[in-house]
Amino acid sequence: MKKGYFITFEGVDGCGKTTQLELLADYLRDERDLAVIETREPGAKGLGEKIREILLNYDGEVSSQCEAFLFLADRAQNIDVIVNPAIRANKIVLCDRHTDSTVAYQGYGRGLDIEEINMLNNIATRQRKPDLTIVFDIDIETAMNRVGKDCDRMESSGKEFFNAVRNGYLTLAKMEPNRIKVVNAARSIEEIHKDVIKLFDELD
Ligand code: TYD
Repeated sequence: MKKGYFITFEGVDGCGKTTQLELLADYLRDERDLAVIETREPGAKGLGEKIREILLNYDGEVSSQCEAFLFLADRAQNIDVIVNPAIRANKIVLCDRHTDSTVAYQGYGRGLDIEEINMLNNIATRQRKPDLTIVFDIDIETAMNRVGKDCDRMESSGKEFFNAVRNGYLTLAKMEPNRIKVVNAARSIEEIHKDVIKLFDELD
């Protein structure tokens, strides 16, 4: 494999995508001897961690518009400082959440205009598109039970919000079936991991 890939992991809070990202990273390094970079949004190494702090812990009023711009600022930094340099160096970048999170959470969840979010996402990413996006789909009841009571600002948004987010992801997957693949996340970690490897192997 000579070319760099950009793979994003998406789904509602508690879907298990972070576990799957780490498993794939280990597998690609150990079994395939590939150079892998792991990053996340919000909260890529460095400035992103500061932005994440505000997004998840600020306890005053946050307007939906401001929230969206903070996610976008974090994304711009992640793309310029981590993702694009790694892909140019032919590395595989695994990113925990990306543009589809903003469409699903701020668009379908909070009700912001989706066309506008798409436009802003294009600016923040300098048009970089993931080669593959995996949506880990799970019912909200199970996901909420996994998150538990100790939740952050976003996670305390309620069941109705998360159902809208989940349906948002499924709608996106129908609109872009080549890029976005849905995996049933209500199964064992090992079964899901096998599906993830299969999707990776199907990349051009
Ligand atoms: P995080 O703890 O990273 O959640 P998870 O481990 O489930 O990925 O918190 C990120 C939160 O921010 C999560 O609730 C989803 C939300 N989010 C958005 O609302 N919009 C976005 O654009 C992004 C990247 C995340």
